[in-house]
Amino acid sequence: MTDAYTQAMWSFACNQLQALSQTRMRVVLVSALSLCSTVLSPSLVDSYIAIEAPIAKAGILANIGPNGAYASAAAPGVVIASPSTHDPDYLYTWVRDASLVFKLLIDQYTTGQDPNLGQHIQDFIQSQTKLQQVSNPSGSVSTGGLGEPKFQVNETDFTGSWGRPQRDGPALRSTALITYANWSLNKTGASNVLKTLWPIIKLDLDYVAANWNQTGFDLWEEVDSSSFFTTAVQHRALRQGAALAAALGQDASTYAAQADNAFCFLQSYWNGHYMTANTGGDRSGIDSNTVLASIHTFDPAAGCDANTFQPCSDKALSNLKVYLDAFRSLYRTAPDATVPTGRYPEDEYMTAIGGTANPWYLCTAAVAEQLYGALIVWKKQSSLEVTDTSLAFFQQFDDSVKVGNYTTADETYGQLVGAIRLFAEDTLAVHANYTPANGALSEQFNRTTGAGVSAANLTWSYAAVLTAFSARAGNAPESWGAAGLKVPRVCKLQSGPMSSVTFTVNAETTFGESIYLTGSVVALEVWNPTTALPMSAADYPIWTLTVQVPASTDIQYKYIRKFGSSVIWESDPNNQFTSPAGGETVTLEDSWR
Ligand SMILES: *[C@@H]1O[C@H](CO)[C@@H](O)[C@H](O)[C@H]1NC(C)=O
Ligand SMILES: *[C@@H]1O[C@H](CO)[C@@H](O)[C@H](O)[C@H]1NC(C)=O
Ligand SMILES: *[C@@H]1O[C@H](CO)[C@@H](O)[C@H](O)[C@H]1NC(C)=O
Ligand SMILES: *[C@@H]1O[C@H](CO)[C@@H](O)[C@H](O)[C@H]1NC(C)=O
Ligand SMILES: *[C@@H]1O[C@H](CO)[C@@H](O)[C@H](O)[C@H]1NC(C)=O
Ligand SMILES: *[C@@H]1O[C@H](CO)[C@@H](O)[C@H](O)[C@H]1NC(C)=O
Ligand SMILES: *[C@@H]1O[C@H](CO)[C@@H](O)[C@H](O)[C@H]1NC(C)=O
Repeated sequence: MTDAYTQAMWSFACNQLQALSQTRMRVVLVSALSLCSTVLSPSLVDSYIAIEAPIAKAGILANIGPNGAYASAAAPGVVIASPSTHDPDYLYTWVRDASLVFKLLIDQYTTGQDPNLGQHIQDFIQSQTKLQQVSNPSGSVSTGGLGEPKFQVNETDFTGSWGRPQRDGPALRSTALITYANWSLNKTGASNVLKTLWPIIKLDLDYVAANWNQTGFDLWEEVDSSSFFTTAVQHRALRQGAALAAALGQDASTYAAQADNAFCFLQSYWNGHYMTANTGGDRSGIDSNTVLASIHTFDPAAGCDANTFQPCSDKALSNLKVYLDAFRSLYRTAPDATVPTGRYPEDEYMTAIGGTANPWYLCTAAVAEQLYGALIVWKKQSSLEVTDTSLAFFQQFDDSVKVGNYTTADETYGQLVGAIRLFAEDTLAVHANYTPANGALSEQFNRTTGAGVSAANLTWSYAAVLTAFSARAGNAPESWGAAGLKVPRVCKLQSGPMSSVTFTVNAETTFGESIYLTGSVVALEVWNPTTALPMSAADYPIWTLTVQVPASTDIQYKYIRKFGSSVIWESDPNNQFTSPAGGETVTLEDSWR
């Protein structure tokens, strides 16, 4: 907009439309409003951010005990979900919400954006150290208590019935703390990090490593099954945990092995069009769960990798379109229009009885954030790929676009990137349209009137707009090790306790010949010479390999020699041992027979 008068006229007309839409969110109005945001968006979104960003930040700090205006009952560093005490009562602290909020604050602190958060972070660390030890209905610290989703704000347990356990909490908390530990490592050195942060990070990582392959309640606390968001954040935590453990000279092998296993399982949620959010639940599985997973596991170093569902990957983009379409159809918008979105289309929580899902602030912000994340990577690599999988997504922006690679030299690249940026801007403009004049963000907004619904001043809503604003500004998050990962060929079902076995064999080999290991359990590829595990000859003629195997199990194995397609097995009988108890390690010393 160049002309102030035209701008004012548009603003006036759009405000009138907006007022009308408060009475009925109808197709025509929504389309007209979408045009409004298109025309006004550059200024509208910029001014929304200028006003909303400080409100959102203050909204977060107001919800952290004990000095936050709404959190005086909360212990230091404890994040209340919302000040709301009835319908719904959210005056509790959830491990998930608190960890996502503190990931944002830790990022702001470690990147120098806000140097005043140090005390809050110290308080958070103290509060989580305490909460980990609080015995609760999910168990004690050593018997599953880390899976407890929520606590009283005075750091005691919540004993009412609830959807428990929820296994994303320890993963998200360790990711937040690993980010801080990684930064501290460089400031204060390894011995300090080992003393202060590693013990609590390790408790969470050990919980994730031991339990990722168990069912639990999803992030919306409704479905008890495996859940995409949970597996994705567990995978991230285990990868980062393995890297931090290695940097601190600790044993990383269990985390690394379970990261591979979780990564393998993560692929199974893809159904050809979208990631099915839960393995249970009898729903379509179309769910912002998956969009949130993509933005919270964004690693710009991984490019548009589809196996880690990076924001610009073809799978995550296809998934995003399916999710948007579900809400377009629910709210009867035009086919390719921007649309406010909620958790999942079948949602009835806090709708009038039998009502239709309301939009949520954090879900709508997540759509914009995924697209801004994608734009960061396309810009970095100066190219964009349209595959069969992502074609329908891109056709929303150009119906003549074809499968192919487009670089900055191609007109199509500029057109697509421009249209997608505009769409992200319009999505934030929709967010702005439904933000009340005082900037306060509740959990949801009424799909008919646009008024706030459910918990007022939801801490996560504030964190969600701030991470979306940050992505819009082009800030890429720190890498967590998603680049260059290979999905294991066979997914290993490694539930139950594992122990770590180092196989060593003294074997002279001829040039070009290598030693492999296979055996009776899945962890050893069940006697399959083709997929047998390659051993390392760093200490030639001693070949070694450390493998996580089921604990306290009788296991048989053999070494084999491979040279090209030739396979030579050790002579009979099979080698045999009983693996040690869970968490223990043993080294086997063999000689080639
Ligand atoms: C903690 O808060 C709960 C809920 O308000 C209350 O029932 C309990 O007595 C409090 N415990 C302590 C030790 O203050
Ligand atoms: C550690 O700090 C130094 C000096 O500030 C910096 O050059 C280096 O990149 C940092 N390393 C990491 C891993 O952050
Ligand atoms: C555990 O992992 C196996 C192998 O990936 C998978 O088939 C199974 O569904 C997983 N179970 C749960 C509850 O995640
Ligand atoms: C630690 O920070 C470095 C440098 O920013 C980064 O490359 C690495 O992935 C981080 N490691 C972990 C475990 O987060
Ligand atoms: C949304 O607003 C409509 C119209 O005022 C009302 O009938 C409905 O109950 C509201 N829904 C919620 C969840 O507040
Ligand atoms: C795009 O380029 C990459 C790398 O050269 C290639 O692997 C891929 O197949 C290309 N995609 C299409 C759709 O042509
Ligand atoms: C939410 O926060 C705003 C800003 O602090 C405040 O004006 C409003 O009263 C709060 N609402 C509730 C219900 O706490």
